[in-house]
Amino acid sequence: MEKVRHRRSEGSLVLGLETSCDETAAAVVLRTAEGRGRILSNVVRTQWERHRPYGGVVPEIAARAHVECLDVLTREAMQEANVDFADLDGVAATAGPGLIGGLIVGLVTAKVIALACKLPFLAVHHLEAHALTVGLTEGLKPPYLLLLVSGGHTQLLIVRGVGDYERLGTTIDDALGEAFDKTAKLLGLGFPGGPAVERAARTGDATRFDLPRPMVGREELHFSFAGLKTAVRRAAEKLAPLKAQDVADLAAAFEAAVTASVLDRCARAMDIATGRLDKTAPRHFVVAGGVAANERLRANLSELAANRGFAFHVPPVPLCSDNAAMIAWAGAERLALGWTDPLDAPVRPRWPLDLDARPAIGAGVKA
Ligand code: KG4
Ligand code: ZN
Repeated sequence: MEKVRHRRSEGSLVLGLETSCDETAAAVVLRTAEGRGRILSNVVRTQWERHRPYGGVVPEIAARAHVECLDVLTREAMQEANVDFADLDGVAATAGPGLIGGLIVGLVTAKVIALACKLPFLAVHHLEAHALTVGLTEGLKPPYLLLLVSGGHTQLLIVRGVGDYERLGTTIDDALGEAFDKTAKLLGLGFPGGPAVERAARTGDATRFDLPRPMVGREELHFSFAGLKTAVRRAAEKLAPLKAQDVADLAAAFEAAVTASVLDRCARAMDIATGRLDKTAPRHFVVAGGVAANERLRANLSELAANRGFAFHVPPVPLCSDNAAMIAWAGAERLALGWTDPLDAPVRPRWPLDLDARPAIGAGVKA
């Protein structure tokens, strides 16, 4: 097929690479001169089959799997977008946070392409990419209130602009996705856990078990899921061996408990954000990250936002979980501001979005 030449006046064309965890991904995104996004290609290959025997992501296996397929996926993304490397305006890769081996694979690949093609390089913050996805999918611009729920992070943030985040709350122990994954493992539901728990919960009775609603009513805006996980384990141990209906009921009760906890935290965050955001600014509430794919959570948060006068936004399910379109888009947004990175930019396995946020009291390594 003949390539359609990209004209610079149309906007900027960015190749994005994502390798921070267990998905290898490459995508090409166009950011128009008006600041709107268009996904020209978005290729994702999950590594679940490789990690399944271990019941979780094994960092070394993940890094090797990224090495094996990133070049092929990059070629696929370029072909699907029908563009040449010479057409690109920038190359972006996730620089952190994430698993160090995988981050190195993506970052070095993007740097080499940038060097060989004399292109600007963009070291993207994975959480910023989740945070800005609604700009790509809906053209929504900050400021907005954001609930970021992924496998490694659970945060409430005010997004004021690209690179400008105020963290209102975080988890003091497990991330929400991690809690789903651990609960799935406990219930023998396999990996990845979030979708498996959601599926099992559909046929379950959420009222059969009286699980705790962590942090509900607490003043500070943090989350905690470790105690809930223990409560599920205790309930499961009492019933062992578990029948299919027990598993479904426990999954439903777990999902209902985390939803109640998250709703309470978000309601409080909306009150705080209302007081802090510019009074004339439209009030938007955004949910992003892998757990934002959860139907019960989406429905409940949408209702909460409506009741509080916030417009509700959540990316389509395939763009909630890890992908490279969001990395390319975050790169394009930074490129538009002239914020490129040097070729010696380091990987940053730990990298808070809000550098000024104080550690949450009692927080473990996830804060
Ligand atoms: O954002 P993401 O793809 O990767 C990270 O940056 O961590 O999030 C992955 C997390 C996993 O913990 C996965 O179990 C969870 O998102 N997840 C879900 C659902 N789909 C993915 N959790 C609950 N319900 C889902 N439908
Ligand atoms: Zn993610």
